[in-house]
Amino acid sequence: LLLLGLIVPARAQQPDTTTVTSSVEELSAEIAALKAKTSTWDKVLAALPEIFLAGLQALSPQDMAGLRVMVTLGPTREAWDGVRFWSNPSSGLMGSALAVCAWLRGAEVTAICGPGVSAFLPRGVQRHDVTNAHGMYEAARGLWPDMDMGMFTAAVADFSPAPLGERKFKKSEAPDGFSLDFRPNPDILHNLAAVRRPGQKVLGFAAETAPDMDALLPLARAKLARKKADLLAANRVNAVGSGFGTPTNSVAVADARGREEIWPSQSKADVAWELCTWLLRI
Ligand code: CTP
Repeated sequence: LLLLGLIVPARAQQPDTTTVTSSVEELSAEIAALKAKTSTWDKVLAALPEIFLAGLQALSPQDMAGLRVMVTLGPTREAWDGVRFWSNPSSGLMGSALAVCAWLRGAEVTAICGPGVSAFLPRGVQRHDVTNAHGMYEAARGLWPDMDMGMFTAAVADFSPAPLGERKFKKSEAPDGFSLDFRPNPDILHNLAAVRRPGQKVLGFAAETAPDMDALLPLARAKLARKKADLLAANRVNAVGSGFGTPTNSVAVADARGREEIWPSQSKADVAWELCTWLLRI
């Protein structure tokens, strides 16, 4: 726009019609050239993360090469009328960090994303978009037999409200308020861990409202056993700098071999890298 502002007044000085016509033609040509340059520049800018990642991939250990990894990430949305839903503030950042790390380390990665996930995923990652818990379960169940690892980071709604119909529920229908009935959704991690074949590894997360990190470890251990996962990372969704939507996380980790640790707050990328390393060791 700044450039156009400089070009247009200069052309506007010219008086007769032929000059104006040729000036308009020149201007159109200049605009076309500018547009071409802008789109080339846009393409370069858009390609930068991929160029950067390709460099990082070349520097990364390829210790996950040949592995097929499935990641669930983000929230699910459970509709209760034609326009409203029940959900949570998950951003999918932890799942995208895991997808990026596994991909950097050579894995073939498939991401099953809940609605609204805008977290970065490399172009090499296969992406499936789903809306609700049932849709995520169907997508994951279909892919699971071909996978070597499942990383279940999605904040899946445990319950869905019984829908009140396809249309918008009107205020006039419930002047004194109303109640919704909730039905349980499938537990994706639990169901898929139960049907895994030998060698398939399962990483689960636990979203907890624990008072401190020490209280988190027993919760991680309990969920690891209940979900039959190989590795479980519990995070405090009620703590600043941890849980939903933050770039950092502090987690308590426990694995099926009895190893457990509390990791101080660090970037989700660092947490993801370390979790991949733990999974490979199990
Ligand atoms: N999970 C899942 N499907 C569900 C619920 C949870 O796959 N329907 C997965 C999550 O992706 C996470 C793990 O199970 O890896 C634990 O989720 P969390 O919400 O912490 O626990 P819940 O199983 O919902 O149990 P609770 O509500 O009792 O904490």
